Amino acid sequence: MSHPPVTVLPEAFLARTHRILGQVDVAAWEASLACPSLTVRWTGKPDRARLGPEYLESEGFTPQPVPWFDEAWKLGAISRRLVTALDWVREQTLMLQSLSSIAAVMAMGVEPGHDVLDLCAAPGAKTSLIHRRQQGRGILVANELSRARTRRMDSLLRRLRIKDVDIRTGPGEAVGGTYERCFDRVLADVPCSGEGRFHLSDSASWSRWSEAAIRGLAKRQAALLESACRTLRPGGRVLYATCTMAPEENEQVIDRVLRRGRTPMELVPVDLPLDGVRPGLSGWEDNEFLPEIKHAVRVVPGTGMTPFFMASLRRLE
Ligand SMILES: C[S@@+](CC[C@H](N)C(=O)[O-])C[C@H]1O[C@@H](n2cnc3c(N)ncnc32)[C@H](O)[C@@H]1O
Repeated sequence: MSHPPVTVLPEAFLARTHRILGQVDVAAWEASLACPSLTVRWTGKPDRARLGPEYLESEGFTPQPVPWFDEAWKLGAISRRLVTALDWVREQTLMLQSLSSIAAVMAMGVEPGHDVLDLCAAPGAKTSLIHRRQQGRGILVANELSRARTRRMDSLLRRLRIKDVDIRTGPGEAVGGTYERCFDRVLADVPCSGEGRFHLSDSASWSRWSEAAIRGLAKRQAALLESACRTLRPGGRVLYATCTMAPEENEQVIDRVLRRGRTPMELVPVDLPLDGVRPGLSGWEDNEFLPEIKHAVRVVPGTGMTPFFMASLRRLE
């Protein structure tokens, strides 16, 4: 299959991406743009136990294990349609979920009994994995701004037979005032410019990209992260995540929230043995970031993962 050249992407975006990723990672990213690697995760439906690899092999796939998570399998750079046509995917025994998305939940360190908030939750793929990590113990609140997307999440959770999630519709910025000091773990998987999900065959994925949009998103992201911090119990952690490469939406948001210090927080290392990750950038344009921003993680393409950013912040008091 032939694909349009990378140069169809906005020129300013390409120039920035070269600066952010550097030569080696930009080559891997360009290679992954035409056909991203896919992963499926077992949703935990008890009737099929852990037979994912056998089933996938019987359907002609070559599933590869994920070293740090035994309920997902990498399928390589293949057509999405081949996977969505599978019976087990249609009936939600297996779910297409990017490895980066699975990594974000695993990096939260959710344990059974933890009370958890998913601040920007729809369509709910990560919520369903958080629920699985809780093993039926602890509260799970899933908040989402958009009513339509809340309905999608509700429907996904129903299909997965997950009933005990407290679903809320409203701005995540207001949740901090309602749920002060209530949670052990929070996921702030914030709305972002989605640069990690640009596909060459899908111009809609990048048609709204602009540097002005990035600046607007960055303000909203900082407000969401501050709200997330307020909801934590002392010692609790928030995992901030985006699927974009823009430093304004990543390191700079963390830097801004730490410097403002509205809730006393420290940045802690992301505790997950991922391949091919880079530390947070030390600065961008005229801004030099706090030294601890190096604890943030940039997932770069080339290891079956889409570009992704994660930072783990712990509440001090
Ligand atoms: C990156 S997506 C979340 C994906 C989700 N965590 C998952 O894995 O399925 C970001 C979500 O944030 C929602 N959102 C946008 N602005 C928001 C706000 N101010 N408060 C809460 N959610 C918001 C968007 O509608 C979108 O559903």
